[in-house]
Amino acid sequence: MELLRTPAAMRAWADARRAEGARIGLVPTMGYLHEGHLSLVSVAKDAGCEAVAATIFVNPTQFGVGEDFEKYPRDEARDLAMLDAAGVDAVYLPGVKDMYPEGHQTFVEVTGVSRGLCGAARPGHFRGVATVVAKLFLAAKPHVAVFGEKDCQQLAVIRAMTRDLDFGIEIVGAPIVREGDGLAMSSRNVYLKGEDRIAARCLSRGLFRAKALFDAGERDADTLVGAARKETETEPRAKVEYAEGRDPVTLTPLSGRVDAVTILVAAKVGPTRLIDNITLGKMIPGRDAS
Ligand code: PAF
Repeated sequence: MELLRTPAAMRAWADARRAEGARIGLVPTMGYLHEGHLSLVSVAKDAGCEAVAATIFVNPTQFGVGEDFEKYPRDEARDLAMLDAAGVDAVYLPGVKDMYPEGHQTFVEVTGVSRGLCGAARPGHFRGVATVVAKLFLAAKPHVAVFGEKDCQQLAVIRAMTRDLDFGIEIVGAPIVREGDGLAMSSRNVYLKGEDRIAARCLSRGLFRAKALFDAGERDADTLVGAARKETETEPRAKVEYAEGRDPVTLTPLSGRVDAVTILVAAKVGPTRLIDNITLGKMIPGRDAS
């Protein structure tokens, strides 16, 4: 497994793989890996990528003032061992100064789909995400890039950017990987201590409650979202930031009768902000956001 620490090294690796005719898959991460990240590697391989690169970069521009950039968990040695075992071919680990050298002044901003939900709670967050992902795309030159569906709005932002800027990269969403008790895997779960860890189940419990209603025939979006919110709110340690029903493809707000809906929820459990989502019903074939 090759370790690449500068944009030039990443580009050289990508150029060499392309010259060999390899299909390149990219798995962008901020490190502190878990099984969810490793599933992204498998998805890239299953998508026919002969050369898979992962990136590890805790991107300062997507953290707001007072957020957890400094204390975001990091463990490079453990991450590299996990990626090696997963059969990754190269890991790109640029430093902050490599990504944002003195004088950096260019940002990528996706408008519509960045608004609301996490975009409302974390101003500037998706501008930072779009900017760093564009830079990773330009350095790694992938044919395919894989992102987790847990960050549902992020995935929609990246799809929009990829389409609007003609990157010509196939964006693949990988299903949420959950702990045995339903909690969606996240590097930030390490912050959940003691009772907060138990309480954190309330997000998925709410979403599974909505799924049970949907499976029993309920099709009113507001009822489904209301049930998810109510179940999450039964947990006294949780403070719901939002619970919303959105179109699974466009993420536009939905209300009334639906055939398919994505319910997204964000809540603080103690000091830790968590997000989760579930898509109920089938996406309409042929509809594609990218
Ligand atoms: O989802 C993440 O880990 C990050 O937001 C990403 C896509 C790697 C950009 O920093």
